[in-house]
Amino acid sequence: MTQDRRLVIAIDGPAAAGKGTLARRIAENYGLAFLDTGALYRAVGLAMLRSGLDPDDPEAAARVARGLDLELLEDPELRTLKAGDAASRVARHAGVRAALLEFQRDFARNAPGGAVLDGRDIGTVVLPDADVKLFVTASAQVRAERRYRELKEQGRDVSFEDVLAMVKERDARDAARTEAPMKPAPDAHLLDTSEMDICAAFRAARRIIDAHLAGGTGGRG
Ligand code: C5P
Repeated sequence: MTQDRRLVIAIDGPAAAGKGTLARRIAENYGLAFLDTGALYRAVGLAMLRSGLDPDDPEAAARVARGLDLELLEDPELRTLKAGDAASRVARHAGVRAALLEFQRDFARNAPGGAVLDGRDIGTVVLPDADVKLFVTASAQVRAERRYRELKEQGRDVSFEDVLAMVKERDARDAARTEAPMKPAPDAHLLDTSEMDICAAFRAARRIIDAHLAGGTGGRG
């Protein structure tokens, strides 16, 4: 579909809720650029681990974030549980978040036609003026099952129990932190995908976005 004005979409939600797949689909459908902001935090976490630095060290993490090597965004290790865990540790530091903020805003501002960004604080902090905000959730059990399947398909040696524990731990850490905690923006549309496959989730998201483009509210809530 084409549109004659810029469209900026913020997608937030907990780990393994299917935001990434949904965001990519939306970007493709509406001809928008896509940024997986979790990959930025993962890249910082991974760089710290590789340099033998402690992800809980705020100064070292901020330094790494300010000099982030964007080539790391293509690194296959970015998707491991270890990188995800390090990401959610470095993501608690204000200096890290500040270092990554302008990159994310510039991306949204400069993308011709507009952009889709997915993360935890896109609708609340990074792009509070986004045209459409979605908060995508699913139960912890369902999210762990999805992530477990994904990791297994990649040939990774993980147990379901470890994945479920990771999901719960990251939810708790991301929601409880003081800096830009994960939460739905007041004007976000909530999308619970526990009972939906990706096609159904995409249809639901499209209804909301199309209602916005048509000038309606899209049945917020
Ligand atoms: O989405 P993903 O699981 O790749 O994100 C990894 C971690 O990065 C999250 O658990 C969260 O702590 C952090 N993150 C964040 N803000 C974002 C995106 C990710 O704090 N906008």
